[in-house]
Amino acid sequence: MSYAIIGSGAIGGALAKQFARSKIKAVVANRRGPASLGDALQAFAPTVSAAEITDAMDAEVIILAVPFGAVGEVAKLRNDWTGKIVVDATNAIEFPSFKPLDLGGQPSSHVVAKQFKGAKVVKAFNTLPAAVLADEPRRSEGHRTIFVSGGNADANEKVALLATLLGFSPIILGRLEEGGLLQQFGGPLTMHSLIHSNPINGIES
Ligand SMILES: NC(=O)c1ccc[n+]([C@@H]2O[C@H](COP(=O)([O-])OP(=O)(O)OC[C@H]3O[C@@H](n4cnc5c(N)ncnc54)[C@H](OP(=O)(O)O)[C@@H]3O)[C@@H](O)[C@H]2O)c1
Repeated sequence: MSYAIIGSGAIGGALAKQFARSKIKAVVANRRGPASLGDALQAFAPTVSAAEITDAMDAEVIILAVPFGAVGEVAKLRNDWTGKIVVDATNAIEFPSFKPLDLGGQPSSHVVAKQFKGAKVVKAFNTLPAAVLADEPRRSEGHRTIFVSGGNADANEKVALLATLLGFSPIILGRLEEGGLLQQFGGPLTMHSLIHSNPINGIES
């Protein structure tokens, strides 16, 4: 699979670090362009490299590490996302109150999925604070847990395998209206750093 991380801030940087650590190739893109990423990605070269955002969209798996409010701008880069897996690592947060955005009860990833027409949208990598996501996931007591939800079982499995290869222990929670609601911001599974002491998917990379 080919991977792109959209966003080079706290979460994009944490994921870039994990891809480099696990020697899985990925490109990173942001609003400002590849020249802005030279220093930040130097330590992760050549596994992780900078790309123009339009080129990053060629990846099979596109990880959204942008503010929730910027998702629409990324989605507009293509008319048709058929064949792509879009991993939604965003949290829908109202600022400055830091409360969940009022989306009328719909899962935040449904809002994302409506904008990426044709894509298989999987929610993952959104539940850990960025510093924890960047930390070594293979702990002496087990592997750090990543939750995965989405409406397409095959896409869920592919993202779970990615999480495993990055050193995490994924738990697939079901569809966006099931697990997605649990793991989205304001749900019971956000911001908990859980360690799976006996990861059944614990493939060492
Ligand atoms: N921080 C956390 O602990 C944490 C934890 C879990 C989930 N999240 C979620 O993860 C997402 C990213 O959070 P963050 O803390 O990493 O944010 P951040 O540090 O502010 O970084 C945001 C990144 O998104 C990029 N970006 C913004 N608009 C864009 C656009 N239209 N096209 C391409 N790139 C764009 C920015 O590009 P430029 O650098 O060019 O401006 C920047 O690199 C948010 O949805 C957040 O809720 C954050």
